Amino acid sequence: MNIILLGPPGAGKGTQARKLEDERGMIQLSTGDMLREAKASGTEMGQKVAAIMDAGELVTDEIVIGLIEEKLEGDHGGGFIFDGFPRTLPQADALGALLAKHGATLDAVIEMQVDDDALVARITARSTCGNCGEVYNDLSKPIPTDGKCSNCGQAAEFKRRADDNEESLRTRLMEYYKKTSPLIGYYYAKGDLKSVDGLAEIDEVAGSIATALDG
Ligand code: AP5
Repeated sequence: MNIILLGPPGAGKGTQARKLEDERGMIQLSTGDMLREAKASGTEMGQKVAAIMDAGELVTDEIVIGLIEEKLEGDHGGGFIFDGFPRTLPQADALGALLAKHGATLDAVIEMQVDDDALVARITARSTCGNCGEVYNDLSKPIPTDGKCSNCGQAAEFKRRADDNEESLRTRLMEYYKKTSPLIGYYYAKGDLKSVDGLAEIDEVAGSIATALDG
């Protein structure tokens, strides 16, 4: 099964993708994570995208399509969860063509519906385990009081993202509404779209996604 998690910054795409990996053996393909890795390791591409990402703008279609193309050459596991990709209509067309090339199909697009006020609160309270990438939130999922990650058990450094501030978030939201939200109509027209309430508790959202996928 190959699925897309579609939603604005902070909708909970990464959180739900990690749950789907654990529960279904699927593989999360997060273009945001791939770009942050390139940025942290200082590759030529990473240096090129750093300022764009920090400002909250989208990097070029060519770069992210190339990243996804590489991953589709590897292990397909229990299917892919596309997290943060596609984000533009050309990316959506490219994904369709890449999947067809590999004899694969897209099984569902899960739209995670949230409102902007909740996003600001979530994003400014987010932190991530520097060791395994587990996502925490000061309000809904605090870091354990012993300072050890509940996923990997390590006493890791918990990091905040450079683009998790109100100014970048405003740009990220604008980019979402201008360039990514048209994909809702695109996948609705193809009959692939399923919408879930992303404002519910994390486990409830997971339950709605399971129903959308299996029901
Ligand atoms: P990316 O990393 O994809 O960021 P994003 O889309 O802005 O999404 P986030 O990771 O911020 O949010 P999320 O939906 O995963 O939420 P999370 O689960 O963490 O992209 C970053 C940048 O890279 C882009 O701005 C762009 O520059 C570039 N980029 C990436 N892909 C690109 C592409 N395809 N094309 C061009 N450029 C691209 O949850 C957020 C917080 O809320 C967490 O603290 C979590 O614990 C909490 N939370 C989650 N669910 C709930 C819940 N149900 N209730 C309460 N709290 C919750």
